[in-house]
Amino acid sequence: MQISYPTSAFLIAFLCSLLSSLSGLIVRYPREPVEEMEGRVLSFKCRLEYKTEDCDISAKWWRVESDAISEPITDPNRFLITVNETKIDEQRHRDIVLTFNSLSIADRGSYQCTAKCLNTETVAKGHVLNLNVKADPHKGLKASAWSGKLKTDVTVLVLSIMLFVWYN
Ligand SMILES: *[C@@H]1O[C@H](CO)[C@@H](O)[C@H](O)[C@H]1NC(C)=O
Repeated sequence: MQISYPTSAFLIAFLCSLLSSLSGLIVRYPREPVEEMEGRVLSFKCRLEYKTEDCDISAKWWRVESDAISEPITDPNRFLITVNETKIDEQRHRDIVLTFNSLSIADRGSYQCTAKCLNTETVAKGHVLNLNVKADPHKGLKASAWSGKLKTDVTVLVLSIMLFVWYN
């Protein structure tokens, strides 16, 4: 039997989609919104599960600006990104941990982890995670405590100059 060109193209496409569904790339992390105070350290962990022989993985955390726009997170001054991996039989678990060195109000927003299996082009996306950063109520107090100390230092300085003058 001769297989015509459209049929074989269809067959190949069908086999490819079958393969990608078998490669079983999974992205996992908690769904709950996260709330933390500014200045704190915070980590998001993205767990990938996949099969070694089917996948070379590329994975990233993104900041989601809108439905259409996401920015990959890369700034090494503000974020630390670590990756570690464990092999369990033929399965691999990989953790992509995004750490905010010091949270700021500007970090409020939505985040998402995505992974791509480079061999099959299969893409797995985690759900969108919402982060709320609360203002630190002691931030202003810390600043005034510091200026209070500055005032004391100046008083001590003035006092010691007066004493110096007095004794001479
Ligand atoms: C990565 O390292 C952390 C801390 O050592 C550990 O708890 C976690 O299970 C590791 N994850 C993987 C996928 O190896």
